[in-house]
Amino acid sequence: MPASALTRRHVLLAAAGAAAAPLLLPKRALAAAPLALPPLPYAENALDPVISATTVSFHYGKHHRAYFDNLNKLIAGTPLADQGLEQIIRSTAGASDKTAVFNNAAQAWNHSFYWNSMRPGGGGKPGRELGERIDKDFGGFDAFRKELAGAATSQFGSGWAWLVVADGKLKVVKTGNADNPMTQGMKPLLTIDVWEHAYYLDYQNRRADYVNAVLDKLVNWDFVAQTAAA
Ligand SMILES: [Fe+2]
Repeated sequence: MPASALTRRHVLLAAAGAAAAPLLLPKRALAAAPLALPPLPYAENALDPVISATTVSFHYGKHHRAYFDNLNKLIAGTPLADQGLEQIIRSTAGASDKTAVFNNAAQAWNHSFYWNSMRPGGGGKPGRELGERIDKDFGGFDAFRKELAGAATSQFGSGWAWLVVADGKLKVVKTGNADNPMTQGMKPLLTIDVWEHAYYLDYQNRRADYVNAVLDKLVNWDFVAQTAAA
């Protein structure tokens, strides 16, 4: 075979290989991109003075980021690296040999959901449609508010208070540490972080003051309604 023909054939093969290269990468290599910390939906000082920029800076920039960093290290090179965050949470919940993965994955998800559950100038009452569901399932907004605040303040130690949909009805639940109601078949609509790192710099031991301030001034009812309708 003439040298020129070899060269031409090699050029064609190289071109074909180059074009096909992304498809030839193993699935793991494509899927194993680290799970990324989502951006905050507002500036770090946007929730001030209810939640200070200092608290948000540590809470988002250190704690939330660390959950993603730890999770990515734990799943690197394992089949879990092919899964999405919710899939990892569901597949590791209750698995005694995957506790660290579950805790970091759930905390990564919970915090993203928490930031979205709030907005500057939020709080007050939900719109009509969600308000009617709350009236129907709790007997009124005040009863709902009392139940959610009660769950948030009475959670012993670290954890979360949630508004969820369970069996088609709105319900308030609380979870300890990293646990998430989705692992029990419930659909989260709203959460309040009651780990001390969420409020201690601003409220010290006064968790109830933090919870009431979030409910009165920060809850993002538009996000809750959109999540409920999704
Ligand atoms: Fe937190």
